[in-house]
Amino acid sequence: MSTVRSVAVLVGSLRKESFSRKVALALAGLVPPSLKLEIVEIGNLPLYDPDLDEGTPPAQWSAFRQKVKAAEAVLFVTPEYNRSVPGVLKNAIDVGSRPYGSSVWDRKPGAVISVSPGALAAFGANHHLRQSLVFLNVPAMQQPEAYIGNAANLFDAEGKLTNDSTREFLRKFGDAFAAWVERNCV
Ligand code: FNR
Repeated sequence: MSTVRSVAVLVGSLRKESFSRKVALALAGLVPPSLKLEIVEIGNLPLYDPDLDEGTPPAQWSAFRQKVKAAEAVLFVTPEYNRSVPGVLKNAIDVGSRPYGSSVWDRKPGAVISVSPGALAAFGANHHLRQSLVFLNVPAMQQPEAYIGNAANLFDAEGKLTNDSTREFLRKFGDAFAAWVERNCV
């Protein structure tokens, strides 16, 4: 049996009925058995303040850093806020990147899925996020790109994915990501 790789999933929305979260949960059921996806919650992280890293950092930061550090790969599933990454996700990225020299992101293979009810499918957030990932030394999968638009019409009342072509796309995305993780895990 091949190694099972653990993937920390960060969802860039705190909304209970978040489409991004629904996409992340749908993908978790479609990836090959070599990947295990687990959402790491980011809504409880205090805003990043370097002063708080001088002494004992907030317990929520430490728990978050440990969880991401323990994972072998990272996946970001995010909406777009004002053509960029929601602040809550940027905060989590900043928390994980410090203290300097101890970034939890360094060399972890990653991927980005952007989600929007609109037609542009959160392209702006997807690419702003990729800009940070370059600096953070996260090899981010280039293909397939994942822009999930029209998200309000993809799920039933229980949050189950009902759109066949999106399901097929996510399955292919999961297969490609599994291969990407295997190739880039250090
Ligand atoms: C949005 N929304 C939005 N959508 C988009 O496609 N591009 C954008 O720039 C923005 N900007 C934006 C700013 C703020 C502050 C909010 C609250 C919303 C709409 C957004 O895509 C929509 O609310 C999604 O449903 C959010 O994703 P989740 O929560 O469903 O995952």
